[in-house]
Amino acid sequence: MTNNQIGILGLSTMGKSLALNLADHHFKVAGFNRTYHVTQEIIEEGHENFEGFEELGDFVASLEKPRKILLMIKAGDAIDQTCIQLMEYLEEGDIIMDGGNSYFKDTIRRHGYLKDKKINYLGIGISGGEKGARNGPSIMPGGDQEVVEVVLPFLNAIAAKKDGDPCCTYIGPDGAGHYVKMVHNGIEYADMQLLVECYLLLKHIGHFTNAEMALVFESWNQTALKSYLVDITAKILREKDEVTGSELVDLIIDKASQKGTGKWTSIETLEQDQNTSLINAAVVARVTSNFDDLRFAYQQLLDDPMTKEVNPYVFQEEVRKAYYLGKIVAYAQGFGLMKDASKRYHWNLDLGKIASIFRAGCIIQADLLNVIMRSYAENKDLENLLLDEEIIRIVKRNIQSLRVVTSLSIRGGVPSPVLTSAMTYLDQLRSKQVGANLIQAQRDFFGAHTFERIDQEGINHHEWEK
Ligand SMILES: NC(=O)c1ccc[n+]([C@@H]2O[C@H](COP(=O)([O-])OP(=O)(O)OC[C@H]3O[C@@H](n4cnc5c(N)ncnc54)[C@H](OP(=O)(O)O)[C@@H]3O)[C@@H](O)[C@H]2O)c1
Repeated sequence: MTNNQIGILGLSTMGKSLALNLADHHFKVAGFNRTYHVTQEIIEEGHENFEGFEELGDFVASLEKPRKILLMIKAGDAIDQTCIQLMEYLEEGDIIMDGGNSYFKDTIRRHGYLKDKKINYLGIGISGGEKGARNGPSIMPGGDQEVVEVVLPFLNAIAAKKDGDPCCTYIGPDGAGHYVKMVHNGIEYADMQLLVECYLLLKHIGHFTNAEMALVFESWNQTALKSYLVDITAKILREKDEVTGSELVDLIIDKASQKGTGKWTSIETLEQDQNTSLINAAVVARVTSNFDDLRFAYQQLLDDPMTKEVNPYVFQEEVRKAYYLGKIVAYAQGFGLMKDASKRYHWNLDLGKIASIFRAGCIIQADLLNVIMRSYAENKDLENLLLDEEIIRIVKRNIQSLRVVTSLSIRGGVPSPVLTSAMTYLDQLRSKQVGANLIQAQRDFFGAHTFERIDQEGINHHEWEK
């Protein structure tokens, strides 16, 4: 029988959730997982419109042509290996979609390799975690547009909806979908760390309890700061451990890991000569959280600095404003990176549309995206979000609070690498002098790299040590 409309290969957390989401939308879904018992468990649960297979050949043979196969497996070599295995069974015009967090340059390579073999390849960014995948993720398909059109009915059906529209749109050629997903994750790293810093500041400088902080975050969620991450942070701060009755967040070890998409964003930023200092700081903050021995040694070596008493009501408002501005800078840097990539890779990214599909289903969904959407709707060629008039007004209204909060964090010894990066970035943009004149002179001094003058045209070299 060849009547399954789409195949999901990889039935772990994400693959299973997407398969069941598709089945709920009345698509006939074929499922395959390298380890069969995973498939078997889903079969035993008895889902309508889902058919599981033990053999890869049978799975592929069960699909309508052109076959549409969504890979939901570990990123990296597993994708290459699986594509090679699939080649044995696929025919010209069939479509492989990679819905995992693949590195976009791998997607560009795979797209080219499979195109030569007349197999269509799409790199599809999917955000929302397990719940999003099951109930409606944000979906970022990239590849040949006419091929994306073929699978859009499936993707649109299962995507989250915002104001009735699916949070899914064609992103651009070859690796564009995975690129945008990578930057989404980079912004996610920065926003998560910004909230961590607010938590640390409120806790150690404002002396708020977890319950009081939950109230603060809940109140922020009633404002322009409304977002999924603010919401879950409030919920986390309220959660009790079932065994001990203690507040669960206090029982969790103070170190965090990562899977790599944040790091890729930072690496790509450097490749593109762009600045995502908030994302970079958030990535490095996670890395530093794992410096067990060094952290332990310095906890014994250095005392906590003396902190000044603050008025908690005034302070929480200052922190809210600092967070708001930090968040804007993080998004502006992320969207600035995508704008540059759009030119560099000839992707013609529609940044307003990208902002619109981030508004539901994904981890960085936030009301701020409405401002970003409006901004690009008014001027799709806007060079940087920090040049939008409404955003300039927000910057002006909140910059003093960011300065106060970052100063207090440094004086109080509360690490706030992302907030301070936001402050530094704005000061770099604002300052009449950033010191690059001295850099030019130093480079010319030791390497005759030449320099440019403010009062003359052309390139100059000076004999610094006569
Ligand atoms: N989890 C999330 O919240 C989330 C959110 C967005 C995107 N993603 C991305 O979505 C993809 C799937 O994520 P996940 O969390 O569901 O699963 P995962 O833990 O990343 O990977 C496990 C799946 O990959 C399969 N696999 C591993 N190596 C394989 C190989 N060489 N050949 C064939 N299959 C192989 C496993 O099969 P076996 O059962 O046989 O080991 C299993 O089905 C990943 O790229 C992930 O980064 C995840």
